[in-house]
Amino acid sequence: MTRKAITRLLFVNMKIAFVGKGGSGKTTLSSLFIRHLAAGGAPVVAVDADINQHLGPALGLDEREAEALPAMGERLSLIKDHLRGHNPRITSAATMIKTTPPGAGSRLVRVREPNPVYDACARPVELDGGAVRLMVTGPFTDADLGVSCYHSKTGAVELFLNHLVDGPDEYVVVDMTAGSDSFASGMFTRFDITFLVAEPTRKGVSVYRQYKEYARDFGVALKVVGNKVQGPEDIDFLHSEVGDDLLVTFGHSDWVRAMEKGRPPRFELLEDPNSRALGALKEATDATYELRDWERYTRQMVHFHLKNALSWGNERTGADLASQIDPGFVLGEEVAAPA
Ligand SMILES: Nc1ncnc2c1ncn2[C@@H]1O[C@H](COP(=O)(O)OP(=O)(O)OP(=O)(O)O)[C@@H](O)[C@H]1O
Ligand SMILES: [Mg+2]
Repeated sequence: MTRKAITRLLFVNMKIAFVGKGGSGKTTLSSLFIRHLAAGGAPVVAVDADINQHLGPALGLDEREAEALPAMGERLSLIKDHLRGHNPRITSAATMIKTTPPGAGSRLVRVREPNPVYDACARPVELDGGAVRLMVTGPFTDADLGVSCYHSKTGAVELFLNHLVDGPDEYVVVDMTAGSDSFASGMFTRFDITFLVAEPTRKGVSVYRQYKEYARDFGVALKVVGNKVQGPEDIDFLHSEVGDDLLVTFGHSDWVRAMEKGRPPRFELLEDPNSRALGALKEATDATYELRDWERYTRQMVHFHLKNALSWGNERTGADLASQIDPGFVLGEEVAAPA
């Protein structure tokens, strides 16, 4: 067996984002994909970073359970204090912004381990096939929709992703808004693959065009997932608009409708074509592993940190945030975390 093949077997942790227009089906398809991964026995961290916080209910939580989920946005100081660990370049949680990159002394997080961030922010959700960890940003306010917000809700998720390293066959699935905050902060570059959910409409594909534009310079792997597709004409439309970026399409799902009525059938009863489409998402996800480049990943977080430091972070914190960057540090599977 070649060295590459061995590495591939050992480390298949993938970070996946679902983005798209409001109402396109981001939450629905994220939740189905999470169920698909869990049914296959994979460890999954599910993150709800969408403006409309619906991932919990889509994973079967009732209203009371969903409301009781701890909001990451309200636990930012705890998250920051854990992640900065003993990193001498980051002297306080107050000077740690959403783009502050890890360096020597920082604590890294893994999908499977217990850690204080999961203790505070993650809750187990039982699905057919096993439990997943669910984390939610918490409800958004007007201030969260600004570009440079210090208290940004998605900032907690970005910090988590920037400190995350790999274990075998693990998945982090983020249900996310394709908003200006994710472009300004660099959040959109944090994924191995981004699924842009699009209905076969002009509005659906216009979000794709905007995303593609941002993604172009950063090597973001972007695939369009058609949703609520009713026939060959819908598929032709999507194909003519997005070309080969169209990965797969989902039709209307009675399974989803039943789940929304609070009567979820067993997951294995999901319609065959939709089930196969989920398989295609997983295959496309796993295939991007070959493109994984930790140096580029680290370089990009530094790039966006400098950008945020200059545009608002230095002024807001009263510190020179460029000094938080550890020039010798590259995030990766072999980086050892301090206790
Ligand atoms: N393939 C499908 N089959 C049946 N219903 C679907 C399907 N996809 C989405 N829906 C329904 O469409 C509605 C919107 O879907 P969803 O909430 O997943 O979209 P969203 O992009 O997450 O929206 P928001 O921007 O509000 O977060 C929901 O009621 C959902 O159940
Ligand atoms: Mg949603």
